[in-house]
Amino acid sequence: MTSPFIAIEGIDGAGTTTLMHNLQDRLTAEGHKVHITSEPSRGEVGLFIRRMLSPDHPLEPDSTTLALLFAADRRLHVLTEIQPALAEGVVVLSDRYILSSMAYQSIGEDPAWVRSLNDRVPLPDLLIYVDIDPDVAMARITARGKTLERLERLDFQRRVRENYLEMLAKWPGASVRFSGEDTPDVLTQQALSCIAPLL
Ligand code: TYD
Repeated sequence: MTSPFIAIEGIDGAGTTTLMHNLQDRLTAEGHKVHITSEPSRGEVGLFIRRMLSPDHPLEPDSTTLALLFAADRRLHVLTEIQPALAEGVVVLSDRYILSSMAYQSIGEDPAWVRSLNDRVPLPDLLIYVDIDPDVAMARITARGKTLERLERLDFQRRVRENYLEMLAKWPGASVRFSGEDTPDVLTQQALSCIAPLL
């Protein structure tokens, strides 16, 4: 059996990054080789997207451009980083993947078009969706004290969450949904019990 590819999803402030790091620690302690990654990726397209999402970047990207860029970044991410790691038997955990584009870029774009842009990359073996009230998530983001990115606005995040729930219900692959208001330990334990059969 090849190693599993697991995508972790949720609105900004849901706690996906913390969950990914906790899973990495636990799986590594159990003797598995683990590669953690995220989207936008650390590749050139991903870094360009991150710069454009910063509110002081002179170019304000429209939703069509963002959908195309995220899809291109994902394709390169899969080819250069995810598939090579899986081929070596390494468990890959990605903080965001296809469902992020479905949830965020479907605001302003036809969801079927966004899906079709992402049909040249594989589905993850497991999709973990961390659900959270957007008010709670925004309070967490604000408490970090960093400059907010362009998409980190409460009204927008509410629509993203609605999209996540709608798209998750139609997701063609294996998926689980957890509450981001549970403690990090509980979340990690729940996720591990779903990952264990894939190892
Ligand atoms: P995020 O995970 O918040 O990165 P970081 O925690 O390093 O700031 O991702 C940045 C933003 O990009 C976030 O608001 C979600 C958005 N995004 C999309 O709109 N579509 C996508 O396909 C992806 C991967 C991210």
